[in-house]
Amino acid sequence: MEQRKLLELLEEMSLEEKINQLFQGNGSFYEGGSIATGPASEQGFSEKTIREAGSVLSIVGAENIKKIQKAHMENHPHHIPLVFMADIINGYKTAFPIPLAQGAAFNPKVAKEGAEVAAKEASAAGIQVTFSPMLDLVRDARWGRVMESNGEDTYLNSVYAKALVEGYQGDDPKQPGKIGACVKHFAAYGAPVAGRDYNNVELSERTLRDDYLPAYEAAVKAGALLVMTSFNTLNRMPSSANKWLLRDILRGEMGFEGTVISDWAAIEEIRNHGVAKDRKEAAKLALLAGTDIDMMTTCYSNYLKELIESGELDEALLDEAVLRVLELKNKLGLFENPYKDADEEAEKKVLLCEEHRRKAKEAAKETFVLLENDGILPLKKEEKVAFIGPFTEEKAIIGAWSIFADEKDAVSVKEGVAAIGANAIFAKGCDSLEPGAVMPGMNFIYESSRTQTQAQMMLDEAVEAAQKADKVVLCIGEHMAQTGEAASRADITIPEGQKKLLREIARVNKNIAVVLFNGRPLDIREIKELAKAVLVVWMPGTEGGNAIAEVLYGETAPSGKLPMSFPYAVGQVPVFYNEFKTGRRMNPDQPENRFQSRYMDIPNEPLYSFGYGLSYTEFSYSGVKLSSGNLERNGKITASVTVKNIGSRKGAETVQLYIRDEEGSVVRPVRELRGFEKLWLDPGEEKEVSFTITENMLKFHDINMKYTAEPGRFTVFVGGNSRTLNQAEFCLTF
Ligand code: GLC
Repeated sequence: MEQRKLLELLEEMSLEEKINQLFQGNGSFYEGGSIATGPASEQGFSEKTIREAGSVLSIVGAENIKKIQKAHMENHPHHIPLVFMADIINGYKTAFPIPLAQGAAFNPKVAKEGAEVAAKEASAAGIQVTFSPMLDLVRDARWGRVMESNGEDTYLNSVYAKALVEGYQGDDPKQPGKIGACVKHFAAYGAPVAGRDYNNVELSERTLRDDYLPAYEAAVKAGALLVMTSFNTLNRMPSSANKWLLRDILRGEMGFEGTVISDWAAIEEIRNHGVAKDRKEAAKLALLAGTDIDMMTTCYSNYLKELIESGELDEALLDEAVLRVLELKNKLGLFENPYKDADEEAEKKVLLCEEHRRKAKEAAKETFVLLENDGILPLKKEEKVAFIGPFTEEKAIIGAWSIFADEKDAVSVKEGVAAIGANAIFAKGCDSLEPGAVMPGMNFIYESSRTQTQAQMMLDEAVEAAQKADKVVLCIGEHMAQTGEAASRADITIPEGQKKLLREIARVNKNIAVVLFNGRPLDIREIKELAKAVLVVWMPGTEGGNAIAEVLYGETAPSGKLPMSFPYAVGQVPVFYNEFKTGRRMNPDQPENRFQSRYMDIPNEPLYSFGYGLSYTEFSYSGVKLSSGNLERNGKITASVTVKNIGSRKGAETVQLYIRDEEGSVVRPVRELRGFEKLWLDPGEEKEVSFTITENMLKFHDINMKYTAEPGRFTVFVGGNSRTLNQAEFCLTF
């Protein structure tokens, strides 16, 4: 529809109709039901509000959506279509690995392809917008939602942001098989104080701008249609009421012209934060700040009318918000085709099709991170291997936010190993959580009805299996219910019952390879001590078991690198590679010196750092060769290394480029990722890898908050992880 027609439609709409266009309810208001992903608001929703609503979340299914859309448009005074939104975070029916795992692939194509598959499936099911990508930078493993992020690095997250938006939207989200992307959670929701979900965020403006905002901006520049406000505060102002954040930064500086939607009940929660005395004031602050859609509360639909009629709010503010919602529908082509791609036949064809399963399996294999291996891996099919642990059979491996996928469609480790015909025995050994435990997940309940006696019998069987085997693959980790939204944990170790299993197995068989299932970095010191290999598989998605079997048996070598540091202990958190220098940086040569920045009881370094990961072979690196030691203003130089596979198997290495600004007008990080390239090399094969370095890569917010590079000395590091010392120096001269 032409813009002129949209403006005419806006003109024709009554005040109440315009206000209700900003309301988003969830499917519970419509037949066909829906999954609630937040607290039910205690206030009533009027019949008129529902009838004139502008959008709805968490309704899925082509037939269901077509029926609801048809009825809605018939009843709407101007027959304006609903826009159907849902949380498609790592797949719709075919679950890909969780986003944190996808970050470990250090390959944006994995993310883009996952988003393309998700869009194809979701759009056939009638969904028109996804509440993804989640681009919150994360440095705190206590926070359960790290699983939704691509990790702790600004550059990696920004590269993935662009890939994800392109995967969902393509060149034009109106096209078949494409859906609108909604960037979230704006902004910096990943830095809650104490790692506790929904808590406030305390960041300097410089850290917000240098570290947290770039990934959101990359998604905005890639054309994301929506941005979702976060639950947290910034500068002690809730994001949904934060005019500086939404109007000055998002729209003014980033140039975002799309639609801003609140997170679930976040407008009403402005009152809970104590910044609004009631829902009416919350509605006023939110519209003033530039939040367009009110998700799941009636602050807007109950109070905007009187706020506008009393003159407290200018109707122009309402009109601009409503126009952005109408423009969103127009960008999706809903005025011409309100059902978009909803198609029952297409649903049957694409959902969980073989091609999507294959892509999900290939993606999963790229996300696994091998942290330890003394040679026990890869396994040989003729070896007698005992697969032990709760995750040998577990199908809840699709990710906490895979709320529309079905774990029964997932391939377990046991099924994957059987599928490749390996000589294996299986024993569960224990449940994921303690006997009798009950734990609500995002949209399921974990319950163990095991008695202590039964638990002991399971353990005894597992010990017996371990005694008969050449090697043990111990499949353990945190349960999916322990991750995701509202899943902050102060203890980030594996459950006690699994620790007991590990110890009992280690007593009878030292040849243990641990396969770790997790939605966050965990404290795995004891696992590292007792195992000869550790393979992190995260929550690997629908094809997890097949992917794990193929990597364990060497059909594909592991190729992942950590997108988030694994702490030595939770006491280190937040811990991240690009920390800052201090006045008394720890000198490892003088550990006895008390007066330096260190702990008395644990090391400063994480157990495993960002960017770390092994393959089934070794690589050598040449020194860093610079095309020049001097980078002119607006010029460029290259940094090159030659990487060689010096082992006996094909393997993968992600070559990483880090840069350290030796001095700045403000403190600068000890190094920052500025490039990476993933290589697959055969034994003996070598490849030269070159990175172009430009002034733009050296910019930051200086002492005057100006985004600029400063002349001076820089050190370039090129290697296989963020602790590499393979380096060379250059100067930037103006
Ligand atoms: C939830 C989440 C958000 C999600 C929204 C809709 O509370 O914070 O990520 O998109 O509600 O389900």
